[in-house]
Order: sequence, then structure tokens, then C-alpha cells
Amino acid sequence: MSSPAEGLPDPPDNSPHKTVQIFYSKNIEPVIADATLPTLPKGTVAIKKQDRDGDGTFDQYMVMIKGEKGSDPAAGDWEFAQYKPSDGTLVTSSKDDAGFKDFCTGCHKAFTDTDWLRGTGLSN
Ligand code: HEC
Repeated sequence: MSSPAEGLPDPPDNSPHKTVQIFYSKNIEPVIADATLPTLPKGTVAIKKQDRDGDGTFDQYMVMIKGEKGSDPAAGDWEFAQYKPSDGTLVTSSKDDAGFKDFCTGCHKAFTDTDWLRGTGLSN
């Protein structure tokens, strides 16, 4: 499964990740336009396809999956994971890679107003 990034809008100036495409689970649709988000329920999913090097193809799939309340307070109860765009296999997850978890939460813990999500405020 490889997806050409052609035809995507230019990245917004406030994204450090060049071209991205973000998908959220349906349950956050009613609150997506809010400046603040409530604590989202278990099972909420955010998927970000990234064309990190700007070459026109997606090279990383980043995923956040909300777990049980209290399951991982140091990560906002989110699991952070990275998948290969080529075949969708798991590269690594915050569940078993502490360094990876620190890396992801290092930025995302600043976005507590929107339950650790950052893309909800972006527009194209
Ligand atoms: C340098 C800061 C930074 C780091 C480190 C970071 N992110 Fe993000 N993340 C962002 C920003 C900013 C956005 C908003 C979209 C964009 O600009 O790329 C975002 C958006 C996302 C989204 C879309 C959902 C949302 O609205 O937040 C997912 C999923 C995501 N990141 C996963 C990860 C994972 C997994 C890691 C660890 C490998 C990670 N991020 C590390 C800054 C970061």
C-alpha cells in the first residue's frame, strides 16, 4: 500500500512536517473545530500520513490510539505508533519502546488543551 501524495494541498506554515494528511475517528467530528477538546474516549484513533522529506510520497504513518483511562498517564493514555506505508506493518510503538514514547510525548504533551492532539487546529 503506497500512496502518492500528489494533489495534496501545500502544507500550512505552522506544520513542521511538510505535507501531512490526518484522519480521525468519527467520534471527534463534533468537537474538531473547538479550541479545546474534552478527554477523548478509549478507542479514539488519529492517523497521520507524512511526506516527511517532501518528495511527493508518504514515508511514514503515525498513529495515536486512546487507551483505557489511567492506562498510561505519562502519554495522556495514548498509544503512539509508527507503521510502514509500504505494507502497513508496525515499526514501533510507545507500548514497548520507551525512547520512542519519550520522543512522541515530548511534543504532544504540550497540546493538553486538545487532549494531546495538535492537528485539530490546522486547516488547509
Ligand atoms: C516535533 C514535535 C512532534 C513530535 C516529536 C511528534 N509529533 Fe505528532 N504532531 C506534531 C504536530 C505539530 C502535529 C500536527 C500536524 C503536523 O503539523 O504535522 C502532529 C500530529 C500528529 C498526529 C495527528 C493527530 C493530531 O491531531 O495530533 C499523530 C497521529 C501524531 N502526530 C503522531 C505522532 C507520533 C506517533 C510521534 C512519535 C513518533 C509524534 N507524533 C511525534 C508534532 C510532533
